[in-house]
Amino acid sequence: METASEGQQIATGEVAQSFRKRDAFATGLGVLTATLGSAVGLGNIWKFPAMTGQNGGAAFIIIYLVCTLLVGLPVMMSEHMLGRHARKDAINTMRDLAPRRQPWWLIGAAGGLAAFLIMAFYSEVAGWVFAYVFKAASGSILSTDPAANSATFGALVSSPWQALVWQWIVLIWVGAIIMMGVSKGIERVTKKLLPLLFVLLIAVCVRSLTLDGAGEGIKFLFNPDFSKVTGPVVLAAMGLAFFKLSVGMGTMITYGSYFRDDQNIPATATKVMLADLTVSILAGLAIFPAVFALGFDVAAGPSLLFEIIPAVFASMPGGNFFVIIFFLLTAIAATGAMISIVEVPVAFLTEQFRLPRRNATLLTLVLLALMGALAALSFSELSDVSLFGKSFFDLYDYASSNILLPLGGLFICIFVGWVWGFDNVKRALSNNGALDNERIIRLFFTIAKYITPLLVLLVLLDGLNIL
Ligand code: TRP
Repeated sequence: METASEGQQIATGEVAQSFRKRDAFATGLGVLTATLGSAVGLGNIWKFPAMTGQNGGAAFIIIYLVCTLLVGLPVMMSEHMLGRHARKDAINTMRDLAPRRQPWWLIGAAGGLAAFLIMAFYSEVAGWVFAYVFKAASGSILSTDPAANSATFGALVSSPWQALVWQWIVLIWVGAIIMMGVSKGIERVTKKLLPLLFVLLIAVCVRSLTLDGAGEGIKFLFNPDFSKVTGPVVLAAMGLAFFKLSVGMGTMITYGSYFRDDQNIPATATKVMLADLTVSILAGLAIFPAVFALGFDVAAGPSLLFEIIPAVFASMPGGNFFVIIFFLLTAIAATGAMISIVEVPVAFLTEQFRLPRRNATLLTLVLLALMGALAALSFSELSDVSLFGKSFFDLYDYASSNILLPLGGLFICIFVGWVWGFDNVKRALSNNGALDNERIIRLFFTIAKYITPLLVLLVLLDGLNIL
């Protein structure tokens, strides 16, 4: 079964402390970078700017920030804690920790569904990014003309074969990495390349901020106008907080199950949250000043990144080269995120049904290709088809971010606060008393028990127009 990876990740000296058969992250840094690799992805670079543009800018960002602090972070800590305690996939973690006969494993099951919905559209967006790497290499995308850039993007998404084939390439790529195993595949790829993405983003920011007329973009990012904020906008901001931190569906439970016993969970989660936020803000600073300076449409949505980034690079020395690197690094960031999504069903299938990792991955990929095709074709053959007034692409996105992830987070916090209880939490987050962090634990527990569930419930009910 897991023979190939068995044992080899257990660092010397750690053997006595925990002889675990499960694949595990070998080092503390590996934990941080892999978790960060899951969090930082298209959510930061593509989705955050697109949604900020569509929902009015600064006010949306402020609501998003509040949701990140009061919802995203507590849910992330909860997931890491539960996963590490049970050392199982998400579904079995919840089943093991729940009192007899209480169906808390349903959280994990809903997460499995969310994983498929997210991957079905995420792999398509990643496909566009991969395609842009090649388009950039052939030198055909650099232009500051909004009409030209929108035509380039339109040609890609409206071609059914291009959309499908790029998605398949992405799925095969992710599948290959997953089959190589957790530690080897994930740690290696993410550790090296995230810092580079960071540096390149800063360079793009500098260019964007020094364009004539960049000031409008800064106002848009930092000058809040709350008049456009409605229930659905607040729900969208909360959904984005879940999505960007990879919480609410069991990814972080699964990753937590690979954490070392001495990992400081509150510190790790906080660092991941801050780094994830930094990348998003940088993406915003890279994109919005240029949007206004060059006369693009802020509310373009999914196409925003693909139209504006080539325009920024077109106005930069060496842009031809750097635009390739930019999309390449974005593709890599997206890869880290996708690995963490696909790892959820794969871990479950291997542990529950004792499927070899290879077969579990293949099965997952075939299902994803089928579901994903509906998202891939949402901009061409299926552009007239709508379900609940949305294309498949939008529906997958909406149902996962705005319904399943918040429900997952809600019940995880209820479980932690009201079922698992303070004593267990204290033991788990202090690493059995090794860490002196009782005040942080108390603060976390109060928020997770009362504030997070209440907030999620209110925002959900209001955003779905149930209140
Ligand atoms: N957070 C990732 C991003 O921003 C996407 C992601 C990875 C995700 N794993 C997840 C979203 C789990 C929700 C749940 O691109």
